[in-house]
Amino acid sequence: MDLADIGVTGLATMGRNLARNLARHGYAVAVHNRSHSRTQALVREFGGEGTFVPSEDLAGFVASLKRPRRAIIMVKAGAGTDAVIDQLAELMEPGDMIVDGGNAHFEDTRRREAALRERGLHFVGTGISGGEEGALNGPSIMPGGSKESWEALGPILQDISAKVDGVPCSVHVGPDGAGHFVKMVHNGIEYSDMQLIAESYDLLRQALGATPAELAEVFREWNRGELDSYLIEITAEVLDQVDAETGRPFVDVVVDQAEQKGTGRWTVQSALDLGVPVTGIAEATFARALSGHPEQRAAARSLAGPELSSVGGRELIEDVRQALYASKIVAYAQGFDQMAAASKEYGWDLDLGAMATIWRGGCIIRAKFLDRIRAAYDANPGLPTLLADPTFAGALEAAQDSWRRVVTTAIQIGVPTPGFSSALAYYDGLRRDRLPAALVQGLRDYFGAHTYHRVDKEGTFHTDWSGDRTESPA
Ligand code: 6PG
Repeated sequence: MDLADIGVTGLATMGRNLARNLARHGYAVAVHNRSHSRTQALVREFGGEGTFVPSEDLAGFVASLKRPRRAIIMVKAGAGTDAVIDQLAELMEPGDMIVDGGNAHFEDTRRREAALRERGLHFVGTGISGGEEGALNGPSIMPGGSKESWEALGPILQDISAKVDGVPCSVHVGPDGAGHFVKMVHNGIEYSDMQLIAESYDLLRQALGATPAELAEVFREWNRGELDSYLIEITAEVLDQVDAETGRPFVDVVVDQAEQKGTGRWTVQSALDLGVPVTGIAEATFARALSGHPEQRAAARSLAGPELSSVGGRELIEDVRQALYASKIVAYAQGFDQMAAASKEYGWDLDLGAMATIWRGGCIIRAKFLDRIRAAYDANPGLPTLLADPTFAGALEAAQDSWRRVVTTAIQIGVPTPGFSSALAYYDGLRRDRLPAALVQGLRDYFGAHTYHRVDKEGTFHTDWSGDRTESPA
């Protein structure tokens, strides 16, 4: 029997499409699924696309792989992943590779990598972005793990990934959990991008009384400029959609409660631990949470709002475009800060420019914009914040008047724009010469003797607030 180059276990939509992508690229692919009928269906329907080696059980699946074995797990992240890893590890031999292509938490990946390393196995936690379409036609692939595993897997992953200007959207991200961490931040940024798009739509609809179809045209126009991206493109498609049953705009018949599988929440939790203000991602995650409390929303519906309910003319459209672009720059800057902080914390040595490069195609946040981020890190790999890159600083300067008008307008008519407002507050916060954090330090010292530093000399100080209020070194 011919042995397979690589295997995929877990043949739901993503796994099936990834297996087909591999087969279409000429790799012999071992395929396995818990219920065998799915494996049979794959071979029956798509067997003509390449070489599939089906197995009914995991032992057969492992036996059908060339050594060192390369097995990709495509199951729903969680306890199920541990079970499959354990079974595979039992059947594998030192030097073999287990790849987890699900959206696992990076701490789980670190734990699993360490445990399998002990047994001589390579564990590669990899982010795969692009949904079912990407898995089939070229996703963005973000693998972590050892250098040796990248040597054995990298060429295959690059082969099946999306390409932009001939450059594959996959690199070795870094050791252990680095790949899943980067994918998590990708998803956090995805939340933020979508929130900013949603605020743009909501504000323009409310302020101008524009219809979803008219706004689809606005997004289509925006997609021809610096906002050019997959999410803006599909926003136009969704806004244009008309519900067949009622004839109403599709967005008006969908329940307005946004769900989540959790990667946005993980991003914010990790950012809190790392001390990185990812306010854009946090606001996006909380906006989804707010939408998901219908009982509170019903109870609050009669609360007072402003007199004005609409305002402004067509010039608001350009202002919102600018606010969207500026807020997007802030959200990405924060996400990249988080990756930089994690890189330091976990010793990953992440190449931030390379992360921008592999997000240019295949993934959900793919956008022209990522070329500019890559250029910023090429020009200065030690950039303290993307906002300081001359191109982005110029864009923010050009956008800021519009951005402030948009936030003001939203506040005047009572349309919530937490993404726009918090991004602007972050921008203004970073710009400040002196922050009121000095007062916070004073208060902390007053009630808890938490001490403070002075601007004019070295050392740590405490003021005797309850006594004579003299200062002494702490
Ligand atoms: C991707 C996506 C994907 C994610 C969905 C849904 O990169 O292909 O990020 O991994 O599952 O976007 O995420 P939520 O359910 O959390 O919105």
